[in-house]
Amino acid sequence: MTHLFSPFTLRDVTFKNRIAVSPMSQYRALNGDANLWHAVHLGRFAMGGAGLVYTEATAVEADGRRTHGDLGLWDDSQIKELRRIAEFIENEGSVPGIQLAHAGRKASERRPWHGETPVDAEDVAERKEEPWDAIAPSAIPYADGWPTPCEMSEDDIQRVIAAFGSAARRSHEAGFKIIEVYAAHGFLIHQFLSPIANQRTDQWGGSAEGRMRFAIKVAESIRENWPEKYPLVFRLSATDWLDGGLEAADTIEISKALKAVGVDMIDCSTGGIGGKDRPRRMVIEQGFQVPFAHQVKSEADIATMAVGFLWDAKTCEEHIATGKADMVALARELLDDPNWPLHAAAELGADENHNMWSVEAGWWLMKRDRLLTKLGLR
Ligand SMILES: Cc1cc2nc3c(=O)[nH]c(=O)nc-3n(C[C@H](O)[C@H](O)[C@H](O)COP(=O)(O)O)c2cc1C
Repeated sequence: MTHLFSPFTLRDVTFKNRIAVSPMSQYRALNGDANLWHAVHLGRFAMGGAGLVYTEATAVEADGRRTHGDLGLWDDSQIKELRRIAEFIENEGSVPGIQLAHAGRKASERRPWHGETPVDAEDVAERKEEPWDAIAPSAIPYADGWPTPCEMSEDDIQRVIAAFGSAARRSHEAGFKIIEVYAAHGFLIHQFLSPIANQRTDQWGGSAEGRMRFAIKVAESIRENWPEKYPLVFRLSATDWLDGGLEAADTIEISKALKAVGVDMIDCSTGGIGGKDRPRRMVIEQGFQVPFAHQVKSEADIATMAVGFLWDAKTCEEHIATGKADMVALARELLDDPNWPLHAAAELGADENHNMWSVEAGWWLMKRDRLLTKLGLR
């Protein structure tokens, strides 16, 4: 038995292996509603053998979407289509997970292929997509050329905290078994956590404890609406890679505080707080964020998921075997090969006869293998 293909349990939920489909926004929703695109996009990863399939960032309120195409779960009417998707994922043996999000000052942005710049008159002319006002902990724009967001009032803060709770209740009704909160990559919760975006002097800022308060309240609000038997995960940017920003030591403290209010795992990503330019300190190589998952796991004593530039089965196996993380999450490699988990299982010797495949494919592939061997072609 390999480590990558050993089961892993959080609360009452068992993943058949350690491979998660990292959230991947498709920008294909209309008014936040999921459709057949999302079903096929996510369904193929369940068929491909991942232990956990996360939806993309799913907005807890309409104005919390990053783009016009973001998925949403701010209304009960949005449950039905997501329920079909969650059911399919579960029937194929994967755990259906949802990522809940609020974009904060990154809201009202163009899709990546439209420029990842603020929505403006061109979008209105070409796609009838209007810009909208963004909110943030402080009135500091995301980057040069971005509009200044409105500093959140106490009412705004309480409304968004409650919206995360309501979205958690809907996630349960939709049949998801794990929630990941998007508190990384410069989204709203990360904006509260990072001193670069949060310059408030009230109880929601001013100190490390103050900046953490919003994340803690979001976790509590979700826990009140989410069954105790199901896990809750936070995706954090473990470092901002910028002087004056969050560092790994801050992330350890944040993780400990989240654990104390019922968070079960930290998904360790990095960066994204200030503009599109890659920070000088950020050096990208295979598994470059894994050391953060390792550090958080050992120093905050909480399960972790490693993500970022992972594609090699043996390397992923090694990360799990050596206790660097409890799970690995892959995004772009799975876009390239949605069957990556099944191929990784074969490569690592965990599935020699296509037994892990759905029988509809596995039966034929096993027969083809036998024939190829008989004909001396393999
Ligand atoms: C198409 C695409 C969409 C993404 N959307 C999200 C998202 O909705 N939420 C999120 O947390 N990260 C998102 N990411 C980041 C990935 O989840 C992942 O962290 C990142 O791509 C690094 O992993 P990789 O090297 O395996 O691609 C997205 C990445 C891609 C490629």
